[in-house]
Amino acid sequence: MTSTGEAARSRRSDHRRRVQALVRPHRWRVAALAAASYVGGTSEAVFLLLAARLALAVTRDEPRLGLWGAASIGIGGAIALAAGLLLLRLVANAAVVTLSTGLAQAVLTTTRGRLSAAYLNASWSLQQNEPSGSLQTLSSYADGAVRVVNAFSASITAGLSLLSLLVVATSVDPLATLVIVTTLGLLGRLMTPLRTRIRRRSTSDTRANTTFNETLSELSTLGLEMQTFGVRDRFVRRIDALSGRHAAAARRTSAMQGMLTPVYTTLAYGGVLGGLAVFAATGAGKISAIGPVMLLLLRSLAYGQQLQTSAGSLMAFLPPLERVQDAIARYDAARASDGDTVVERIGAIEAREVSYAYPDGRTVLADVSFRLRAGEVVGIIGPSGSGKSTLVQLLLGLREPSTGEITVDGIALQDVNRGAWSARVAFVAQEPRLITGTVADNIRFFRDDIGDEALVRAANLANLQADIARMPDGFASFLGERGTNLSGGQRQRLSIARALAGSPQALFLDEPTSALDAHSEALIRSTLHDLRGKVLTVVIAHRMSTLEVCDRILVVESGRLTAIGTPADVAASSAFYRHALDVAHG
Ligand SMILES: Nc1ncnc2c1ncn2[C@@H]1O[C@H](COP(=O)(O)OP(=O)(O)OP(=O)(O)O)[C@@H](O)[C@H]1O
Ligand SMILES: [Mg+2]
Repeated sequence: MTSTGEAARSRRSDHRRRVQALVRPHRWRVAALAAASYVGGTSEAVFLLLAARLALAVTRDEPRLGLWGAASIGIGGAIALAAGLLLLRLVANAAVVTLSTGLAQAVLTTTRGRLSAAYLNASWSLQQNEPSGSLQTLSSYADGAVRVVNAFSASITAGLSLLSLLVVATSVDPLATLVIVTTLGLLGRLMTPLRTRIRRRSTSDTRANTTFNETLSELSTLGLEMQTFGVRDRFVRRIDALSGRHAAAARRTSAMQGMLTPVYTTLAYGGVLGGLAVFAATGAGKISAIGPVMLLLLRSLAYGQQLQTSAGSLMAFLPPLERVQDAIARYDAARASDGDTVVERIGAIEAREVSYAYPDGRTVLADVSFRLRAGEVVGIIGPSGSGKSTLVQLLLGLREPSTGEITVDGIALQDVNRGAWSARVAFVAQEPRLITGTVADNIRFFRDDIGDEALVRAANLANLQADIARMPDGFASFLGERGTNLSGGQRQRLSIARALAGSPQALFLDEPTSALDAHSEALIRSTLHDLRGKVLTVVIAHRMSTLEVCDRILVVESGRLTAIGTPADVAASSAFYRHALDVAHG
């Protein structure tokens, strides 16, 4: 029993912490909201008291009615005062609306900003393991911040209106107020199990929604495979099943939420009825005292209901937001390392006894040591899955060695300033990704400092100029969503142009010629040849012809460096390389 109580308490404090984290940056707005709610509540409470007394005075045909203590006021004055209070309440309510919508807007902007910044600053290894579409899903959950904040604002407003009502009620009839407070407290306790269930339902609803979104986002990248493998119907069934599961979970959450108000009002009115029964049985209380107290009680119950509803909404809307907050915390914890040392000129890059294991624990590189000299062109060859791409990602500083060290001119790569480093290195990925935009957008890739001349030069170097010339608008031609209008080889050359446009000092290419015909490959080879002596180039290639231009060759087999040297050296020392040569030359 104690442990469930403790669990509930720690859950409640967790909710509080999460909501606080959300609104903390906007505490002044929250304070103003609370103040406006209190003023609105007080003016309403005083108005209700005045109205009740006014009614009593009118029915008894009295010319004046009593205020607090001995003070009294004429009927006309009382009506004017009541009207003034109504006006004050309207102004306070308008302020509440303005402040709470402003708060929701501000929180949404902050949350979205935090999410994307945290994701972008997280390490590559984390980003790579995130399911596709998870950022979109999270961002849509961030929209839920608005609903959480609205529920939070509503509970602040209801809570403070209730409080001000009770303060006014205490000044009239402390005993009756105590009864009201006790009734409200009791009602709150009775509603707790329902709120807990709402929260549980909403958590499973969120989970179902996440799975659905991730599957859908996978689908959007699988169109071609889906058609050719004839598995469309199966995928449709899968989507249907997931969608059904999500809809059912969402329905259960809304149903629970919908029950909050009827359950509450039934309990509350039941309580009122019980109280009246007690009054009737004991004959206690004068009608003049019961009138205003009853009015305040009913109004308090209404605010109590609002409080319950907004607390219920908070329970329902928190789980998606929790996902966002947890993701932000996870991204922050996996922040890509950044150093202070600015490397002006990239000279030699050295790997010393480098081993690497992926987070799943499998070691894919073991004890690799070599030194790359400034300006040389180095080829990497090895069987599929031997660790070549992983090695290049380590050299780029995208991953950190599990043991051993990679240095640039003697400086550990972790200590190198990332911004300066990325401005000086370039990378052509094994599966290059293009963005929705023009040829120029794709070559420039958000680096606004790259001028038009550099674009043309890079396109020439990557042997892309003829293709661009054939396009309707040249560099301004739109390439469709994520560059779908290009052929595989064009895409590869475009990403080479992208890499060269920033005039890098070190260039890493992962299978840059795999999709090229013999002619284009020969041109890229000549580009690599031209870079010799100027740019430190590391190229992974299966094509022996691409490797011909290399000064030296690294052979990686099963995560180990089995040979290193000039092509002639390696041909003599590596069976793998000799075999590859034999295959290539028939
Ligand atoms: N993100 C990852 N998480 C876990 N294991 C991975 C990950 N990426 C690659 N691996 C594993 O690491 C090993 C080396 O992969 P890597 O991509 O470096 O090979 P590769 O030599 O580039 O192969 P290929 O020539 O086919 O491109 C493989 O066994 C692969 O399964
Ligand atoms: Mg690879």
